[in-house]
Amino acid sequence: EKTSRPAATAVAHPNIALVKYWGKRDDELILPVAGSMSMTLDAFATTTTVELLEEGAATDSFILNDAPASGKPLERTVAFLDHVRALAGSERRAAVTSVNEAPTGAGLASSASGFAALALAASTAYGLELDERALSRLARRGSGSASRSIIDRYAVWHAGTDDESSFAEEIEAPDLRLVIVTVDAREKAVSSREAMRLTAQTSPFYEAWIGSTEASLEEMTRACAAGDATRIGEITESHALRMHAVISSTEPPVRYLAPGSVAVFDVAVRLREQGVPVYGTADAGPNVCLLTTPEHADQVAAAVEGLGEVRVVGPGPGARLLDEQG
Ligand code: PMV
Repeated sequence: EKTSRPAATAVAHPNIALVKYWGKRDDELILPVAGSMSMTLDAFATTTTVELLEEGAATDSFILNDAPASGKPLERTVAFLDHVRALAGSERRAAVTSVNEAPTGAGLASSASGFAALALAASTAYGLELDERALSRLARRGSGSASRSIIDRYAVWHAGTDDESSFAEEIEAPDLRLVIVTVDAREKAVSSREAMRLTAQTSPFYEAWIGSTEASLEEMTRACAAGDATRIGEITESHALRMHAVISSTEPPVRYLAPGSVAVFDVAVRLREQGVPVYGTADAGPNVCLLTTPEHADQVAAAVEGLGEVRVVGPGPGARLLDEQG
């Protein structure tokens, strides 16, 4: 009779923040300086399996997209597993296998979907029974934005003041679409982790950024409750440009937006003049997402043709276990 080792497989998707997370108040616990809000996507899934190894196995292994991972990705995965083992009171090593559906060219950060899927698969394999809030807190330890990928559709990540109070939960919002324009698929030169640290240490505008993010989140919460897609879009664009402003005010300066990114923001301005509700946002890279209503998504996608690889996505599910392994 075959005795199978404990294992679990989970699926999670990336999320795009409409109110951004940019800055930590605690590097170790990954507590943010302010709350944030995002849409979990219905595309670019990460599927991750964690299988516990026999007692006595000395190291974890991590296969990412069919190749053994090394360096930073391996280090961060092992550190995350160490945290799960501490919670579970276990010393057993694990084999992690992960596949990202996002083409390497999508320019989408895979850390959010990656750590959300790893949090669910690892906590299940190690026998922890975590509710959604505890899972969000656990995913946060891998990558701040991963706390939001646990959640269905739209999430607010409460900044909190300690490990217990810093988690994401679902928020009602109107059905919206993001037209993702991949302007440049190359890996960014400065990681978000590094640029966040630089912003906190050198930007003269950092305090103002923190205050303005808190205000944007409050306004965003009201706009969502009111089902006001236009206001949601307006806050999204001005907030994103403020994030890029504070990032470009560092020393040495970091600039993520490229001429091609600005061209996409310009398309949004032009379409708005024609009465189309469309608003831009961008993360720590040159690729731009245009937020619009389901009725206008095709028109917006057509308007950015030629400016990059285009993909229309909508709100998607939070992290889920795949049934086969129970
Ligand atoms: O979770 P991290 O460390 O990859 O940081 C994410 C930062 C942004 O994507 C730029 C903003 C956000 O809220 O997702």
